[in-house]
Amino acid sequence: MPDSSFYVTTPIYYVNDKPHIGHAYTTILADVLVRYARLFGRQTYFLTGTDEHGQKVQRAAEARHTTPQAHADETVVRFQELWKTLEITNDDFIRTTDERHKVIVQEILQDLYDRGEIYRDEYDGWYCVTCERFYTEKDLVDGKCPEPGCGRAVERIAEANYFFRMSNYQQWLIDYIDQNPTFIQPDFRRNETLGFLRQELTDLCISRPKSRLSWGIELPFDADFVTYVWFDALVNYISAIGYRRDDEQFAALWPAAYHLIGKDILTTHTVYWPTMLKAMGLPLPRTVLAHGWWLSGDSRMSKTTGNVVDPMEYIDRHGVDAFRYFLIAEMVVGQEANFTPEAFARRYNADLANDLGNILSRVTTLIVKHCDGRIPEVSELTDDDRALQDLATATAGRVHEAVERVRLDAAVGAVADLIRETNRYLERRQPWNLARDGDKASLGTVLYHAADVLRIASGLLHPIMPDRMTACRSALGLTADEPDFENLGRWAVLPVGSRVEKGPALFPRIEAPKKKELKKKEDSPMTDDNLIDITEFQNLELKTAKIIGADRVEGADRLLKLQVEVAGEERQVVAGIAQHYTPEDLVGKTVVVVANLKPAKIRGEVSNGMLLAASDGDVLRLLTPDGDIPSGAEVR
Ligand code: ME8
Ligand code: MG
Repeated sequence: MPDSSFYVTTPIYYVNDKPHIGHAYTTILADVLVRYARLFGRQTYFLTGTDEHGQKVQRAAEARHTTPQAHADETVVRFQELWKTLEITNDDFIRTTDERHKVIVQEILQDLYDRGEIYRDEYDGWYCVTCERFYTEKDLVDGKCPEPGCGRAVERIAEANYFFRMSNYQQWLIDYIDQNPTFIQPDFRRNETLGFLRQELTDLCISRPKSRLSWGIELPFDADFVTYVWFDALVNYISAIGYRRDDEQFAALWPAAYHLIGKDILTTHTVYWPTMLKAMGLPLPRTVLAHGWWLSGDSRMSKTTGNVVDPMEYIDRHGVDAFRYFLIAEMVVGQEANFTPEAFARRYNADLANDLGNILSRVTTLIVKHCDGRIPEVSELTDDDRALQDLATATAGRVHEAVERVRLDAAVGAVADLIRETNRYLERRQPWNLARDGDKASLGTVLYHAADVLRIASGLLHPIMPDRMTACRSALGLTADEPDFENLGRWAVLPVGSRVEKGPALFPRIEAPKKKELKKKEDSPMTDDNLIDITEFQNLELKTAKIIGADRVEGADRLLKLQVEVAGEERQVVAGIAQHYTPEDLVGKTVVVVANLKPAKIRGEVSNGMLLAASDGDVLRLLTPDGDIPSGAEVR
């Protein structure tokens, strides 16, 4: 990445409703990336905000018998307060109703209109009120809105509107995406956009007649219209940083390093926005990074399904930092992740209570008791000590490398490896026995090693858990200053003799949610005639496969045809899972396939393999590996 400022944005969230975990996630992801960038010594700038115009907000206000502005003024506070609670370090918060934003949107519109990039036309088409989008006859699916997950009735609308000449930029955009492979991430999302661009791109309708929608930014050249909410919203990324107002700041920050978004708003960010920027003569953001969904019980968390997890519940009970840690550790950016109370308790207890918190507690207890509460000196080193030092000093590099790839789960994993190894080291060296036997020299060496590991680990996790890691560092006698990255790659920075304090537990264990009583195996004995020989099992070639494409099979409502990648090789698998998964749920998932099944033809489609799934009554769930693993890995 070049040296210029590291400018990161989140979507600006609609103020039609209060924030949930999905919104919290993208904002925490941005915060963690920005805090790491600062730790690595970069200049950063972090923008978030709210999207306050358009039909959704107007409707939410009507339902509450209030004005859109009053509704927005109330709801925006909930976002701002949640970000404060979540220790979000944004530099600015933009609202699309801010005067500073509205004037820039109008200037851009006027300029594009003057240069012929925007024109007026009569329009006749189908409109989905919920999606706020126009469709042509052939876009519709069974005469309904084609948007995945929508499918609502559409209205026929004939009216004049203003259009942006987006179609002019189709070939340019395709070439740009081809030549800039990191522009859209992950790769399968780039392919999704390129797929979208295979159809002819139409011009973008950027106005709404006030007779239909009044809540928006008025077009500067026609007072009968307001601006389409997306044309207004996307501009926030530049209006907030001084476009047309503060050339110096704008030049320092644009193009952004990352637009972080969820996969729901890929097209607006990778088709509309780049063509708008091109028409304005501006460079494109370096990377638009789309992450997957937080699921709850395996279905998308959303207000309509009613399975939304309230962040405050977890924050109140287990603390902000544990919540941030869980979200960052559990999701591989780009893929889906599941938020369940069980998963939360499992990860919290394993990583935070049993490993990290436990080491700090053991080490500070022993130092307070046997070393006068001061970091002890090191005497002769063993190979075991040296191996721990090597692992510890290599961890900063591993974290740095993982963060650069936005593999924050891997960054957490690198620190977790170090902590686990330190626990094993303590088990091997038994400092409590050394204390009992009065071997002060060896005791000092072991405790110093564990304490210096904690200095490194707490520094490396500080961007994720700023509050708890500061507490950990001050227990070790380190000042409240933010950690210095150079020192996190060095051994023996912790000064001998500095004061150690035993504080309250960093992460008190939490009770795992109650499990159902399990039957003992003796109660349901296996009979000989259903047992198989291991060689029978070995005849099956089970492998991990990555789903890279999914489509319905025409005329078969239970079937999906999937393109999967198995160790670099693409094959098609037809599966009867259409009633349980939509194509968009599946792309990006890693699943398990029977790879050596004879090819079969199902409804005219070739199927090369079979997916493994668990089913129980109406419920069907695909088997997926519990962490990241390449495709083509053997399953046994
Ligand atoms: O789309 N899992 O705003 P929005 C993960 N105003 N992330 C989720 C999520 C989930 N289940 N649900 C929502 C808008 N998100 C527009 C954006 S930008 C110029 C305008 C997150 O309030 C994710 O980041 O519907 C997603 O893209 C965003 O919330 C949508 O927020
Ligand atoms: Mg949305």
